[in-house]
Formats: sequence, structure tokens, C-alpha cells
Amino acid sequence: PGEPPVTAASARTTRGETDEGRGGRLAFPDGFVWGAATAAYQIEGAAAEDGRGRSIWDSFSRVPGKVADGHTGDVACDHYHRYAEDVRLMAGLGLAAYRFSVAWPRVRPTGSGPVNPRGLDFYDRLVDDLLAHDIAPYPTLYHWDLPQALEDCGGWTSRDVAYRFADYATAVHDRLGDRIRTWTTLNEPWVAAFLGYGSGVHAPGRQSPAAAFRAAHHLLLGHGLAASALRAAGAAEIALTLNLAPVIGPGDAAPAIATVDGLLNRQFLDPALRGSYPGDVLEIAARHGGLDHIRDGDLEIIRQPLELLGINYYNPSFVSSAPGEPANPAFPGTEGVRFDPPAGPTTAMDWPIDPAGLESLLLRLSHDYPEVGLLVTENGAAFDDVVRDGQVSDPERVGYLDAHLRAAHAAISAGADLRGYLVWSLLDNFEWAYGYHKRFGIVYVDFATQRRIPKESALWYREVIGRNGLSY
Ligand code: NOJ
Repeated sequence: PGEPPVTAASARTTRGETDEGRGGRLAFPDGFVWGAATAAYQIEGAAAEDGRGRSIWDSFSRVPGKVADGHTGDVACDHYHRYAEDVRLMAGLGLAAYRFSVAWPRVRPTGSGPVNPRGLDFYDRLVDDLLAHDIAPYPTLYHWDLPQALEDCGGWTSRDVAYRFADYATAVHDRLGDRIRTWTTLNEPWVAAFLGYGSGVHAPGRQSPAAAFRAAHHLLLGHGLAASALRAAGAAEIALTLNLAPVIGPGDAAPAIATVDGLLNRQFLDPALRGSYPGDVLEIAARHGGLDHIRDGDLEIIRQPLELLGINYYNPSFVSSAPGEPANPAFPGTEGVRFDPPAGPTTAMDWPIDPAGLESLLLRLSHDYPEVGLLVTENGAAFDDVVRDGQVSDPERVGYLDAHLRAAHAAISAGADLRGYLVWSLLDNFEWAYGYHKRFGIVYVDFATQRRIPKESALWYREVIGRNGLSY
């Protein structure tokens, strides 16, 4: 009692003292995994090659008005053809890990039919090339590109899709399992369910709270089924990646904070890591279509032993209590809750810059879910980068990354079991509904020529990796 809370500032002081004598270096633990992340639809292009099937993002990006300027992932960063150049780039930056996603429609073009060996060939080549450059491959099996044929049968609102996901995961493991240590099942199921089926700003663009809750449950079920299949096949480490955020608001907003925290964070953390849904989330789901889709035994399937929790952190959510406010379509049940615009500095996405949120999130997770190791699978920022004299100066991104790494370090010093950090993203890429307008890369991509230019942040990151830490 009476101990001051650990904040970024207080931890910094302690750490400064502890690390003195190490050459002014804010050191990360030995073996800390430094890397970068991407996702298939956002970078690969080659949408119709080697037997790839159509995904819900191929369809959605063609619906007028859904993606800025009608951009699609047809070509994207052309990474499918340029992966060797991109791996060389990663090696040049000293990355120890590369997180990418496997496109389900390349592997099983209709989602459930025969395996397409040519689709798997691509990931086979990529993994071999990464390993030849001493970069550990971190594949994610689902980063939102559901085969359209499965959406035609109900998509994630249909229970069957969870079983098809586990079949597909097994097919990928059959081919790559001898070379992959860490498998991630899903990326951000909240986004897939509540933006895909709730607000409809992501593919498949459905707008139904009931569909969103069903989708969320079936995604979790798919995670559990896939995790158990991967384990049975011999996978060493299994992870689930969630978009997590502290929910912050004034004192009188406690109920609003709890509701949003339940929907965004605990709805996924609790089933996967504790084998139960939070009661407040079940109550909301019960009012939005009922709970019939949750069957006896599902939670036992969903709760699988996990070595790692992948954390995608960008910013906290700020909410306040506002009687009369309609529910946010991405958060069913939030009548009377206002999502407040950020007060301080923001990125080009208008997302608040709040590194302390990463520290408090990591500490909360290690307190509430102490068994699982933590890995930041995404963190980064979009800014309006421009090329001048063949170079891209992005001091704001360096500032963002530096501040978040300090926050991560503070959390480690305070006891969080954080194993690594993967920056989002390696390359500027297709930023979903924003198309190519938002640049998250540490490497600039000129989409007209496909030329890659490492930004100053990439060169800075190389230094950080090289000394396994930051300088004061
Ligand atoms: C999270 C998603 O996983 C990724 O696909 C997206 O580009 C970034 N956030 C930035 O919005």
C-alpha cells in the first residue's frame, strides 16, 4: 500500500539507474525478438495467379464507395513476385522475425475444396528464403481474406466455417510445419467480426449486430479448432493475435468503460485464455440475436494452451457517458456511450498517440492472464510521408516507435513477460478501407514503380535492433 503506480515516467527513472554503466543503452532482454509485420491481401497482389481463389476483400473492394478511390489489392506491393527483394530488405535491416499472413484462398481457393499446391508453393519459397537469411517466419493463418465461396455459405456467421478453417490450417501445417516454430491462428477477430459483420466498413460489409456476435464466436471456435489441430500436428508455439486497447474515460463513465472493455478486450481474452465469456458481454449478445450459436463444449474447444498472446496496439479508446447517444455500430450495446475524439497529438489516421497505453496494457495483461507470454505483433503509425531527393524523412514515426518501445521496456522492467516487438508495417500497403492513402511502412513503396525506399525510421530501427535497445 502507498506504492506509487508504475507509469512510463517513474519506470524510466528506475530503469535509467539500473542501466547506468551499459553505455547509455536502454537494453532489452537477451533474445528479445525484433521484427516487422505484413498481411497477405495488403501486400501480395497477384490476385488471380497460380489458382488463387477470390476472397471477400476482392469482392468488397469492388463495391463502389467501400474503399477510398476504388483501390483494390489486385497488385498491392506486388510482393508475390518481389518477395526475394523484400526478404533482402528485411535482412538488411537486421530483422530477426517476419510476421506475414497466409492467404486462405491461395491454399484452398473455394475455402473447403481441394488444396491448391501452387498456392502453398509461394509460402514454401518465402519461408525458405527467410530462413536462408536467418529471419524467423511468423505466419498468421487468418488476416481477413475469407474465401468468397465460404462467405456465400454464410461466412463467419456459419459454424461450419470454423471447421473449414481448422482443415485449412492443417493443410498449411502439412506443408510448412517442418520449418515454422510459432503459428498464429487469427489476426484481430474483433475487427473481422464487428467491422466485417457489424458496422460493415470491412469485408464482407454486413451490418447486423447479431451476425457480428455469431461471427466473433465462430472465429474463436475456429481458433480453438485450429490450435488443437496444429498442436496435434506438432506445432511448438501457438499464438492468437488480438487488437487490444485500454479504455479510458472520466470517473462517472465507469459503466461505459466496462462495456467497451468487455466488447473489445475481454470478449476475446476470456474465452481464449480462461475458457469463459464475460457475463456483461453475454448479456449484450443475448439482447442482439441471442446465444443459440454457443454450444455446450465450445468454450473447452476455444480455450487451448497458448504460448503467446499477440498484441496489436495502436491507441487507447476514450469514452464518456452520454445519455441519448445511439450505439456505435461496431459496438452493439453502447447506447449512451460516446467515443471521444483524441485530445492530444494524432497520426494520419487521426488516432491518438499514447505510448503509456501500451505500458498499462502490457501490465494489465500480465496481471490478468499471467500464464501466457506476450508478443507485440503490431505497433506503428501512418504519416503523410513524401520522397525528397530519393529519401523519406519520417521523424514523427521514429518518435512514435521510440516512445512505444520505451513504454514496452518500462512494462518489461515492471515484470511483463514481453518476448518481442514487430513493427507494423514493413511496407506501405493496402490499408483496407483507406486504400493506399495511409502509409504505415518503415519502407516507402512507390506504387507506380514498385520501388522500395527504406524510410529514416527503417534505418533508425536497424540501429535499435543492432544494439538490442535504445539510447537514452
Ligand atoms: C491492424 C491490422 O491487423 C492491419 O491489417 C492494419 O493495417 C493495421 N492494424 C493498421 O490499421
